[in-house]
Amino acid sequence: MCGIVGYIGENQAAPILLDGLSKLEYRGYDSAGIAVSSGEEIRMVKATGRLKVLDDLTHGGSTLPGTIGIGHTRWATHGEPSDTNAHPHLNKDGSIVVVHNGIIENYLKLKKKLENKGYKFLSETDTEVIAHMLDYYYNGNPVDTITKIMHRMEGSYALGIMFQDHPDEIYAVRKDSPLIVGESNEGNFIASDAPAVLKYTRQVYFIQNEEIVKLTKDSLTFYNIDEEVLTKEATTIDWDINAAEKGGYEHFMLKEMYEQSKAVSDTLNPRLKDGDIVIQELGMSEDEIRKIRKIYIVACGSAYHTGVTAKYVFEGLARIPVEVDLASEFRYRHPIFEPDTFVIIVSQSGETADSLAALREAKSHGVKTLGIVNVVGSSIAREADNVMYTWAGPEIAVATTKAYSTQLIAEYLLALKFAKVRGTIDNDVFASMLEELKQLPEQISLLLSHKENVQKFANRYLATEHVFFIGRGIDYAISLEGSLKLKEISYIHSEAYAAGELKHGTISLIEDGRLVVAVLTQPDLYKKTISNIQEVKTRGAFVMAVTTVENTEVEKVADYCVYIPKTNPYFTNSLAVIPLQLFGYYVSIGKGLDVDKPRNLAKSVTVE
Ligand code: M6R
Repeated sequence: MCGIVGYIGENQAAPILLDGLSKLEYRGYDSAGIAVSSGEEIRMVKATGRLKVLDDLTHGGSTLPGTIGIGHTRWATHGEPSDTNAHPHLNKDGSIVVVHNGIIENYLKLKKKLENKGYKFLSETDTEVIAHMLDYYYNGNPVDTITKIMHRMEGSYALGIMFQDHPDEIYAVRKDSPLIVGESNEGNFIASDAPAVLKYTRQVYFIQNEEIVKLTKDSLTFYNIDEEVLTKEATTIDWDINAAEKGGYEHFMLKEMYEQSKAVSDTLNPRLKDGDIVIQELGMSEDEIRKIRKIYIVACGSAYHTGVTAKYVFEGLARIPVEVDLASEFRYRHPIFEPDTFVIIVSQSGETADSLAALREAKSHGVKTLGIVNVVGSSIAREADNVMYTWAGPEIAVATTKAYSTQLIAEYLLALKFAKVRGTIDNDVFASMLEELKQLPEQISLLLSHKENVQKFANRYLATEHVFFIGRGIDYAISLEGSLKLKEISYIHSEAYAAGELKHGTISLIEDGRLVVAVLTQPDLYKKTISNIQEVKTRGAFVMAVTTVENTEVEKVADYCVYIPKTNPYFTNSLAVIPLQLFGYYVSIGKGLDVDKPRNLAKSVTVE
């Protein structure tokens, strides 16, 4: 949830740290800080608010001399956003400096122990415990000291550490929070995520759990928790650097909505071969696919919503029972794992703490697991038995759009493949569904080209306080995502309801002028949802309908209609979500909000 960076090399560190943090601000943005060592002393500057405040305060870093430093952008967990709670944190004489991403779960116990030994705490953070523990156990050997505190800390951490008496070194370590190391001719880097170093190098090392790294300006040494030296292979990042830049768009979210067409093609096309779907990375024989008796799809937020859609697709096409679970619930509800259960974990970041814990829970029961993941080399990608990447490229806006769209594609591909192998759909249906899948990228572009219509409509609803989204079947799954998109970036209260459920209580909230967004893309359910629209209309609602081109019938009841091109009913989510994303986006920017970094949120939720 926070971003950490570090640099050691030939160049002035502070501007590089600020630049790196600017690429990680999506991870947290309530305060930021950097500490830079000039060799003789370590200077630290921290500031509440966006990174811009810190940038202004240090004149783009120019006021801090020194070629070694660490930095942090924070998403508060322990203690409100403030200069004192911002990272880095120091030991008592300022000779040890730490930045931290994660949560130390036993910090109260550790804090008490340290207080009994005379340590004074200035902040409310769990991180300050780390600085004082390093001080307490320090024996002149940084690696040995770090392993000592690793044995005592419970929870998750990625740490960047500088020791005043080792002025030419940075240390870093991780457990259950992401950390990469970048290597270049002009120095070495640590970062929570690759975009922070891409400007300087494409050679990165993925640090595994409980590994430590020592960085000097021209060397990297990796250790395990037993202080043994490890040999690690670098990975070359082959993204286009522009993928993590706005590239002329006003916001990342708009850019990423536009990238959906390509992201969908990139996720789809490499897996279509000679009229078949080939998912090599599934690591399952046809026999194993036939044996599956139950699927769990486990995820959080929007990724969970793709699972809700996928349930209809898997059950409808492949006739396999599917349970969709919120990862935060799944891990504690003691799910039943039969030998032929298959668990799919869906995650853009591959670092979501609850999804990772759910994966580990499933693995501990010996069932087969698959990660549908966007970030290459992330924890879920590494730990799942197999990983199917969604080739969306880096997604920076906190509100997901293109990653969501590619997750749907990955799930459609799996469902279709399973259906074909299990013989639950015939070859003609399979072939025609593949053709419909191939049309999606173009249809997405077409919908985006009509964005001004949605913008005009959105501008009428900037002052609204409550919105309801309704739909049946897959349209309910789309409603869940439309509602989340609106509320997370516009701060308007919205709820998604299965259209038939509204009358069991919630309809009492419908009054004159209340906006109800109705999704009707499932031909066998049109009439039912039209009746539900009538129910809310009778009570004064203003209805915006999202429906398929041929369904003009809906114009008789809805006040405003958005049409999506015709596709297979199983795939309509990929199209209907576009106007809903645009609606959320335009309401947010119409209200003058920071659409890419909505309040209280962070892109990667690495805490429970
Ligand atoms: O990285 P993940 O896909 O695991 O993240 C899951 C959710 O945190 C994420 O989808 C969240 O709901 C987004 N803000 C939605 O736009």
